[in-house]
Amino acid sequence: MGERNVFLVGPMGVGKSTIGRLLAAELNWPFFDTDRVIESRTGADIPWIFDMEGESGFRLRETNVLRELVAKDGAVVATGGGIVTRPENCDLMRSNGVVFYLTASVDQLVKRTSRDKKRPLLQVENPRQKIVDLLEERDPLYRSVANYVIQTDHFSPKTAVADIRSHL
Ligand code: S3P
Repeated sequence: MGERNVFLVGPMGVGKSTIGRLLAAELNWPFFDTDRVIESRTGADIPWIFDMEGESGFRLRETNVLRELVAKDGAVVATGGGIVTRPENCDLMRSNGVVFYLTASVDQLVKRTSRDKKRPLLQVENPRQKIVDLLEERDPLYRSVANYVIQTDHFSPKTAVADIRSHL
């Protein structure tokens, strides 16, 4: 099992992929994004998976991909915002690397996801309220799985990467 991996958790739009890609480039480690791996394994995009299999089908695929990725050694893994909703996923990350919770204000999250059509959970009448509700449910989960909390509001991705690196 891989022990030196870095896992990035946090809400949709916080910048897990951008920050993860940058971090991986600086460390010269491979980068994976669970959502992209799920899509390539399935041969379909996330909205299609949610349509055809529902959120529960997507969650099964997500856990399967995570099981595969935790076996890496020295990888940066950006995860989907709902990864923490299955306790098994939290156990997998905690025992195979260091977990960073990236946070941002609701205003930032709303701004960064506002034109997005690829996140099925936000295709609702009031996406801001959905973001608030999801955060209320998930913030304690992110905090309990994370080794470190990284604030991204008012910081560039580069600064967030430096913050993460200071803990490695
Ligand atoms: C989800 C977050 C998405 C993606 C899916 C569900 C969630 O990932 O996994 O749309 O439940 O918060 P990002 O956090 O990368 O947008």
